[in-house]
Amino acid sequence: MNIGLIKESGKERRVALLPEIVASLVKMNVGVKVEKGAGTGSFVSDEAYAEAGAKTGSKKEVIEGSDMIIKINGPTDEEIGWMKEGQIFLGVMNPLTDHTLVKKLLAANITGFSLDVIPRTSRAQAMDILSSMATVNGYKAVLTAANTLPKFFPMFMTAAGTITPAKMLILGAGVAGLQALATGRKLGAVVEVFDVRAAVKEEVTGLGGKFVEVEGAVDDKAAGGYAVEQTEEFKQRQAQVIHDHAVKSDVIICTAQIPGKKAPLLIRKETVKAMKPGSVIIDLAASSGGNCELTQNEKTVEENGVTIIGNSFFAIDMPFDASKMFGKNVFNFLKLLISPTGEFKLNWDDDIVKGTCVAHNKEIINERVKSLVQN
Ligand code: NAI
Repeated sequence: MNIGLIKESGKERRVALLPEIVASLVKMNVGVKVEKGAGTGSFVSDEAYAEAGAKTGSKKEVIEGSDMIIKINGPTDEEIGWMKEGQIFLGVMNPLTDHTLVKKLLAANITGFSLDVIPRTSRAQAMDILSSMATVNGYKAVLTAANTLPKFFPMFMTAAGTITPAKMLILGAGVAGLQALATGRKLGAVVEVFDVRAAVKEEVTGLGGKFVEVEGAVDDKAAGGYAVEQTEEFKQRQAQVIHDHAVKSDVIICTAQIPGKKAPLLIRKETVKAMKPGSVIIDLAASSGGNCELTQNEKTVEENGVTIIGNSFFAIDMPFDASKMFGKNVFNFLKLLISPTGEFKLNWDDDIVKGTCVAHNKEIINERVKSLVQN
């Protein structure tokens, strides 16, 4: 089997596989072709890929000479145009919210695997790119906040007086929120965390954060550990509690999301207006609508002296380690698709393979994607 690694477009700086993963694939009897310049954004040269055993070529040569194409972001129209029927694409296509790519893959009879819909089971943890990128996002969000805030994060007792520590509020204690908490604590901030899932309270306190409680949240066990929509009454109570904590905070890190839905609106513009000038809001939920009413996706805006940074893709700014984690997740997933002799095998009895596949033989395989696209 031949795998083709192609270069990302736009401002993306990550690459789906680093040379160390290419070398592991070559050991599994897989041929690897790499588009020239694919690793440039992550500071990896074509020579490094060649040393790992890959052949380099133009995008068209790589696509035409491979059975499976790997890229982080979905394929462009030009890339789909160069692919042939039955070829496989592996990447991240956001099929729960954007159905256009799935439809294009179906029309071209391309088999598509979208790693962002991998089932979130214990066995799939080592392949979970959402967790990997959330880790980068949570870390980098806090560093960006520290860089933007006109104050120190830690407490200092100096000859020039005592500096009180920064107060940070984190909304959402999933993978990104917990990483933000750990990073904020390491930098010396006092951190409060709010989540509708009471189950995360122990993790929050274990990492040195204070859990902000709002009574009466719907904590749906059937949702597999994920948050669900809340009642109107709860939302009003929650809004008041968040407002009270937000106005005392120097930094707010927004990470609250509901998979496949618009992000919950947790910070109204009235709250921003009541915050201290100089405060910073980093909204990691920006690409799905944002947790703050004033967030603008991929933009930095200022309101009443409060800086609001809408960015869900900090991973792009830490391309080397983000690529390293992404590639390791991809490799663990590929082990389910490639036999020890380097042949491609599709095992539909494997829930991870089936759950990650969005298109095969002109049919949608992932059940959730199928119901969304057909309705
Ligand atoms: P996410 O990115 O979907 O959401 C982030 C957080 O926002 C969640 O903790 C959620 O409860 C919270 N949230 C949603 N609505 C909210 C609201 N109105 N107010 C406040 N908070 C709100 O979550 P993520 O990080 O992808 O993971 C969520 C869960 O999935 C965690 O329990 C995690 O441990 C689990 N997980 C399991 C994996 C596996 O088994 N393979 C992999 C990754 C995560």
